[in-house]
Amino acid sequence: MLAAARAALGPAEIPAEGIGADAAVRQFTELLTCYGLDLSNPRAAAHLQPPPLAVAAAGDAVVGALNPSLDTYDSGPSAIAVERWVVEALARLAGLPGDADGVFTPGGSLSNLMGLLLARDRAGARRGVDVRQDGLAALGQPVVLTGELAHFSVRRACAALGLGERCVRPVALDARRRMRPDALAAALADLNRNETPIAVVATAGGTDFGAIDPLPEIASLTEAFSIWLHVDAAYGFGVLFSPRLTATLEGLDGLGRADSLALDLHKLGWQPAPASVLLTADPAPFATLEREVSYLNPADDTAAGFTGLLGRSLQTTRRADAVKVATTLLAVGGRELGHMVEHCHRLAQYAQTRIQARPALRLIGPAELTTVVFRYQPTGTDQADVDALNARLRRRLLRSGSALIGRTEVTEADGRSSVCLKLTFVNPTATESDVDQLLDAVCAAAVQECA
Ligand SMILES: Cc1ncc(COP(=O)(O)O)c(C=O)c1O
Repeated sequence: MLAAARAALGPAEIPAEGIGADAAVRQFTELLTCYGLDLSNPRAAAHLQPPPLAVAAAGDAVVGALNPSLDTYDSGPSAIAVERWVVEALARLAGLPGDADGVFTPGGSLSNLMGLLLARDRAGARRGVDVRQDGLAALGQPVVLTGELAHFSVRRACAALGLGERCVRPVALDARRRMRPDALAAALADLNRNETPIAVVATAGGTDFGAIDPLPEIASLTEAFSIWLHVDAAYGFGVLFSPRLTATLEGLDGLGRADSLALDLHKLGWQPAPASVLLTADPAPFATLEREVSYLNPADDTAAGFTGLLGRSLQTTRRADAVKVATTLLAVGGRELGHMVEHCHRLAQYAQTRIQARPALRLIGPAELTTVVFRYQPTGTDQADVDALNARLRRRLLRSGSALIGRTEVTEADGRSSVCLKLTFVNPTATESDVDQLLDAVCAAAVQECA
């Protein structure tokens, strides 16, 4: 598909004369639809990449046309108001304190990075080190504690922030792949005087298994040790739209005790990407990002109330992604968003039971949120062959266009790593019959691969 799309584009040359708006828009619409993904197809179940709501896309188009920016008052005052409104509403939903703050970012990875940046500079200040001015040299050995299956962006953020990936100390998980509070307590007690704890990063909704770390117990530990708690709720935050799921899924009730949390509404929020937010319990940590720039936010303008959001972000010009979210929240309302999350959760549970009912399939991870991890594993087949078979059958489905499913690698209890398949349910129009067809397609592809 990629090669075909590239070929359809022709030579990479800017034409001297344009072909006109209608023709160009038609050409790229056709290119993206013919050689790309149709996320509205219920057989697209690979990633946390939902079909966006039309109303969200409409809100986004308005932003594209008007092009406000959030950095300064005079580049988008109304868009600033919208972002503040959405941040306040989301902070309330998360149960954060009344003076919580936040900012939109270009994705969950960047929200995690921002959370760790604020945590790093706060940890420095506690040690009398002004990281912003002096760098990391005087910080001692930084330590970031996080579950063994934390999103890879946490490690990459540590590298980007100069902390080094070696600062990440993985904390053991329980049988449901949630961070073990006893293991965290032991790791915290083990910290020595030369080590500077930067943050504990908990996860509310792991990418593969949807596991929710026990946030209340973790928050009690970070509070006792005065360590920043960042929660990566990029995936799990959407559950909060459903009071029923919020009450039944364990662990989430500590979310409001986080110092910072990452949430993505381009996952369980049905927004076109990006729609990610970093929330903080209070505005003070953002001071590390504040800058006074004569051509953007001179002090007398700020004093006169002409304030922008330059000090909330590493970006200067910043797109108003909050507008599509606000449009959606207003148009659809929280209750319906909650029903959509519940539907996806039910589909994952249904898939789990259907996988368990098929002898050739083995359930690897139960449906905690909206994913289910499994593999094609007929009895008596060699492990290496099964790994290769699962990898091949997924590519076969991808190549044929009949189904788009996820792939991951899972370390099992005996320490062996195996190639697994994953279904990610984020399409609220998909049905149980679609789930059956997806599993039929998986089994048929495996049989064809073995033929
Ligand atoms: C738990 C978790 N955190 C962070 C991310 C990164 O989000 P993004 O792809 O928006 O950078 C993901 C992506 O799937 C995720 O599942």
